[in-house]
Amino acid sequence: MAAIGKDIQQAKALLEQGELVAIPTETVYGLAANALSVSAVAEIFQTKNRPHFDPLIVHVADFDSVSSFVSAIPSQAKELANKFWPGPLTLLLKKKNIIPDLVTAGLASVGIRCPNHPLTNQLLKQLSFPLAAPSANPFGYISPTKASHVNDQLGNKIKYILDGGNCQVGIESTIVGFDKEKPVIYRMGGLSIEAIEAVIGKVDVQLNSSSNPKAPGQLKSHYAPTKKLIIGNINKLAQSYDKTEVGILSFREFRNEYPTEHQRVLSVQGDLNEAAQNLFTFLRELDILHINIILAEEVPNVGLGRAINDRLRRAAT
Ligand code: TXA
Ligand code: MG
Repeated sequence: MAAIGKDIQQAKALLEQGELVAIPTETVYGLAANALSVSAVAEIFQTKNRPHFDPLIVHVADFDSVSSFVSAIPSQAKELANKFWPGPLTLLLKKKNIIPDLVTAGLASVGIRCPNHPLTNQLLKQLSFPLAAPSANPFGYISPTKASHVNDQLGNKIKYILDGGNCQVGIESTIVGFDKEKPVIYRMGGLSIEAIEAVIGKVDVQLNSSSNPKAPGQLKSHYAPTKKLIIGNINKLAQSYDKTEVGILSFREFRNEYPTEHQRVLSVQGDLNEAAQNLFTFLRELDILHINIILAEEVPNVGLGRAINDRLRRAAT
């Protein structure tokens, strides 16, 4: 099993040797390697069982280092980075040759973000290279939001997990690209569309999914538990099943007629930030119960609610 700890020097030494290290971020845990080393990056794909057409996000210590890796920064990208970095925002920018094609799956743009987690930020500041890091889960499964999630699934494949506690945002970064300087949101995530539009005005959203995403790597089925998950009106859906065989993921309320241990409530207060924080942990917990099916309901489609609903729909596909 992997060692789990808070030792930045150990993480640094392993990364410098071309090894993988799981790192905490405010969104989800990442499976990190030297982004400038083709062999280290190849290890990421292998360890995650990730198809090579799905590009990786590159994590940097600060905005100033971005210019070493990209050839152009649209003015609105700069505005967004100024406002939201470090934070749950990934910018797709035209890459320089120093970024291996393997990182971007051959695309001309690279996804870059400065994450907001004290341990990982210190680590990035001490390294002489940026970190390529997808979420630290086997491809297609639910992203990890605790060190133990990473250890459960990848612990036998990596040496070290930098333990930064529970991820405070809980869902992946929002991805913004630029189509001839015009901003486009390709993945909804931990930064709301409303927050982005408050800074740069109306933004297009393109969440197209296919088996070979043009870029915005959003496969239709993703973030998925092993159990079948159905979204809808939980009370109605539940009528078709035996009470003991369903797990319930609800937004605000417990249901007395079902076993408490088969239920998870995202936020009794109806707080969407809290709901996002809990989402992946609860899906994992429901997934390992002795039940046959997970019934879930959508949350209000505003703020982080849109990203939560997006993840639920992909989990249900
Ligand atoms: O919050 C996050 O973004 C987390 C943490 C670890 O930073 N990372 C993450 O990585 O969610 P991953 O690999 O699980 O998802 C990244 C998505 C992929 O689906 C990929 O297709 C898209 O970002 N992406 C990365 N680089 C891209 C590029 N150059 N062009 C288009 N899409 C890109
Ligand atoms: Mg992922």
